[in-house]
Amino acid sequence: MSAGDRLLPRLLAGLDPGGEPMTLAEHVRTHGELPMMAGQVLIEEVAHAGLRGRGGGDFPTARKMAAVAACGVKRRSRGGPSAVIVNGSETEPASGKDRLLLSKLPHLVLDGAVLAAGAIGAPEVIVMVGGNERGALRALEGAVVDRAQDPVGVQLVGGPQGYVSGEESAVVHYLNAGVALPTFVPPRPYERGYRGRPTLIQNPETLAQVALIARFGAHWFRELGTTADPGSALVTISGAVRAPGVYELAFGTPISDLLAAAGGTSEPLQALLVGGYFGTWVAASRAVGLRLARDDLRTVGCSLGSGALIALGQSACGLHESARVIDYLAAESAGQCGPCLHGLRAVADSVAALAEGVASRGEEARVLRWVGDIEGRGACHHPNGAVRFVASTLSVFADDVERHRDGGCAARSAGLPLGRDRPAAVVSAGRL
Ligand SMILES: Cc1cc2nc3c(=O)[nH]c(=O)nc-3n(C[C@H](O)[C@H](O)[C@H](O)COP(=O)(O)O)c2cc1C
Ligand code: SF4
Repeated sequence: MSAGDRLLPRLLAGLDPGGEPMTLAEHVRTHGELPMMAGQVLIEEVAHAGLRGRGGGDFPTARKMAAVAACGVKRRSRGGPSAVIVNGSETEPASGKDRLLLSKLPHLVLDGAVLAAGAIGAPEVIVMVGGNERGALRALEGAVVDRAQDPVGVQLVGGPQGYVSGEESAVVHYLNAGVALPTFVPPRPYERGYRGRPTLIQNPETLAQVALIARFGAHWFRELGTTADPGSALVTISGAVRAPGVYELAFGTPISDLLAAAGGTSEPLQALLVGGYFGTWVAASRAVGLRLARDDLRTVGCSLGSGALIALGQSACGLHESARVIDYLAAESAGQCGPCLHGLRAVADSVAALAEGVASRGEEARVLRWVGDIEGRGACHHPNGAVRFVASTLSVFADDVERHRDGGCAARSAGLPLGRDRPAAVVSAGRL
């Protein structure tokens, strides 16, 4: 197959959503053999492709790979890089893409991880599967058995649950000491991580993209997307759409096209949550005119994060739904930093009071002051993501705050997923 023939689906090519995980033979038939590449060549190709991490941090992947490799060279006397960790925690309740990749397309993720390990000189790959997802672990176990020829060992670890357990220092802490809590950084894992040595931690989708870039090249990768945001991305869309699920689309796709591909909206929308629970509410009237591209999303103060979107219908109450989410995020604090532990709880209680219509005058101003006080005051980014969500709630649902003060709210619950009660990923490999 020529590179030019391959537009969409890319990552999801050959996927059987309801079926068994793709076997190694099917995988090779779909994508071709995995090329052997010198480490520097791979890192340069990933840099030219402009690939950025898909775990939410949006960090340039090649730069991180090069940093781990360089730290490894400096610390060669202490053993060099220890591992590539596939961060399959997927603790964002609104996301299903990593579970999909690990449970249905394990070889694509393992290809990327094995290539990355070769590029940075790490002897081992560790796949962390959040919440001990049985389907993903079973698929990976089968895949590892079939990959006896891999030049590095692959270890599978069933990880814990909890929103912050997917943060990279928490992943390393769990592997080193069995404690899934973020640690105070620096040193960051790329300098001193698993076993105290430089460690590369990547999201499964990032590594799946590496596997395709290695095969088809940076030029091919850039045939989709925009100059600033090349390639395709996996987006999990849920809420008031007829066909919620995981979709692969090109960066630059209009949000209206994404909604159409997800079966269209099941009722008129009032808002769209972009970027999961660390993300930002955008009023529906503004959201539909945007493209899934960093420049567009920045104009409304948001980013795609880990690619989770929730459509909120007009029959739901944005304030009540947000109060539930903030309560959840406050409860998920790892409890190590005062502003995160106490500040998020106070904010959550205030937003709940606003939603119940029992808040005192000036409550919003107080919440916004706390938001400013909390931001940047944690050891990890958990409180930053949570207060970003709170600020957008108060802005997008400002009219609801007034309405709730004047009387009750008859809206029905939209049941946004919290914890592991997220919707089963109704998966589509649809072309957008
Ligand atoms: C509270 C919190 C939770 C996170 N959870 C995840 C997660 O479940 N999966 C993930 O890949 N990254 C998660 N991240 C981001 C990771 O710290 C890290 O940036 C990412 O795994 C790096 O991979 P990437 O460069 O391929 O995106 C989380 C970050 C924070 C602050
Ligand atoms: S900021 Fe919050 S979640 Fe992050 S380490 Fe501190 S207490 Fe834990």
